[in-house]
Amino acid sequence: MSTGSAELQREGRIAILPPAVADQIAAGEVVERPASAVKELVENSLDAGATTIEVALDDGGRSVIRVSDDGYGMSRGELLIALERHATSKIRTAADLVGVRSFGFRGEALPAIASVSQLEISSATADGDGTVVRVSGGSITDVASATRRTGTTVSVARLFYNVPARLKFLRSARSEWRSAADSLIATALCRRDIRFGVSHDGKNALSLPPASTMRIRLAGVWGAAFAERFMDVDDVTGPIHVSGLVERPADVGTASRRVFLSVNGRPVRDAGVVRAAESAYRSTVIPGVRPSLFLEIILPADVVDVNVHPAKAEVRFRDRWSVERAVEHAVRRALGEPSSAPFMGARSWSFTPAEPLSRAAVDVEVLGSRTAPADGLFSPGLAPGAPLEAPARGTDDAQGSLPVDVPPLVQLRRTYLMFERGEGVVLIDQHSAHERVLFEQFMNVLERGAAPSQRLLFPATLHLGAAEADAFESNRDMLQRLGFEVEPFGGNSIIVSAVPMPHPRFDALRCIRDTLDALTGDRLPSAAARHERLAATVACKAAIKAGDALSLAEMQALFIGLASTTLPAHDVHGRSTIVQITWDELERRFGRR
Ligand SMILES: Nc1ncnc2c1ncn2[C@@H]1O[C@H](COP(=O)(O)OP(=O)(O)OP(=O)(O)O)[C@@H](O)[C@H]1O
Ligand SMILES: [Mg+2]
Repeated sequence: MSTGSAELQREGRIAILPPAVADQIAAGEVVERPASAVKELVENSLDAGATTIEVALDDGGRSVIRVSDDGYGMSRGELLIALERHATSKIRTAADLVGVRSFGFRGEALPAIASVSQLEISSATADGDGTVVRVSGGSITDVASATRRTGTTVSVARLFYNVPARLKFLRSARSEWRSAADSLIATALCRRDIRFGVSHDGKNALSLPPASTMRIRLAGVWGAAFAERFMDVDDVTGPIHVSGLVERPADVGTASRRVFLSVNGRPVRDAGVVRAAESAYRSTVIPGVRPSLFLEIILPADVVDVNVHPAKAEVRFRDRWSVERAVEHAVRRALGEPSSAPFMGARSWSFTPAEPLSRAAVDVEVLGSRTAPADGLFSPGLAPGAPLEAPARGTDDAQGSLPVDVPPLVQLRRTYLMFERGEGVVLIDQHSAHERVLFEQFMNVLERGAAPSQRLLFPATLHLGAAEADAFESNRDMLQRLGFEVEPFGGNSIIVSAVPMPHPRFDALRCIRDTLDALTGDRLPSAAARHERLAATVACKAAIKAGDALSLAEMQALFIGLASTTLPAHDVHGRSTIVQITWDELERRFGRR
């Protein structure tokens, strides 16, 4: 803390700035706006072991920010030294920085805030009298005794009153309030064990009792309906643990988007990690719409540096790639759970009813590898005319050991398959489901090999428009791999001599036409993007349609095929393949409860 009295040290053109100026400059890094002061003060309260924190702002924090806690407080001596730069109780040596658990460690926040505001701090420890200190623009103006309970209250009045350049850049009270609230919410999501009360201009804005889960905290902040949109993520990859909540694909884009990320208990921003989580939604949402995410990453302290950003809003990973892969994997896995589909009521089912939910993904993966395209039930290799057939149930061993338990299925309106499972009734959209099955098979084929195809007795000639002929040229290799044997035949014509046969109703020639039509004008950057586009397009054209009557064997095959995909609850256009209605919900509707 400067007293303003230090002699100016100078040599020629160069002079050392007076401490008051140096403090103000340093303050600029730490305290950019009211939200940053709020964040620093609340973090100090958390570091002091508080269990309840009350925050009051006036005028978006531009005129007053007050943070009170019930932490262990400071003695008079501690309070005075806390206002000095580089004064901290949290680390002693540089080595302590590795794996530092507290939010603070620089000893900068209080002096920084003090140098650009009119500050009052009152504090008391459990076994001492209270003290109140007043500071104006960095100079202590008053120290007195005070009677108060154990804990600390910091009031920051007139932030930046002595820094006109900064004052000018403050935004409206509304917008400053919004960013302070965002920062408070991020902290509250991190520290769910703490009771938070927040008010703005005397009106209660947030009142959060301790919450045992992220979902309960979300409900406390944005309401129960918001919290219901999310599914749980919980996954470990090597030393990296990723948990939290991510939005169900069916809900993405229907409410304002919110993103929260924490690393080892610190709220941080990280565009790369967010992108990794978003890319896990590939093929489950329309490209471009972005999900709300609330993710917590825990990893060994020595592989992340928390001391890289002036406001500690970012961290640096030693191995960013593996963190991003772990996040993508965790979210992808959550999207593979049937509970990621929309439901009416509160419970969800699993393809493997006897198992806890978390095992389901593993079992489904095992099955996925068994039903690789070459012998898949919906594989392009099925002979034309052969029925879609599920292996007879319960009779042979191979089927008996399949982890998918096929329930009795009913087709409704030649469009939906219905069955009863676990906690309720489940409906499958037969077209969407088949699309997902074919999409994953086609992706497999495009990335790993070629699909068997069926030679046509009479090769067919197709006459294309110029744009379709272009699309054919640029997708020819991939089409070939999917099992379409097609050659140019002069002009814009092509000749088709063999086709894949995913099911007996498949109209291969129509599929080629429609696919080429859909692909005209595509200029996709990567091979992966082109594969996805083609696989999705062909899957859509090749899948059975609403209105197709299915035999029982076909329904069973579709069920098993869907269960063996990695994302069974989602088609490839951002819609759901399944919808579930819980018994609870039905009972409620029938007035049984
Ligand atoms: N609410 C509080 N309750 C108890 N002690 C506090 C409180 N706020 C600050 N302190 C004490 O004052 C010291 C200085 O606080 P300050 O925020 O300036 O630095 P820091 O938290 O150690 O590091 P950083 O600058 O990274 O936040 C802290 O180390 C802590 O000992
Ligand atoms: Mg601090």
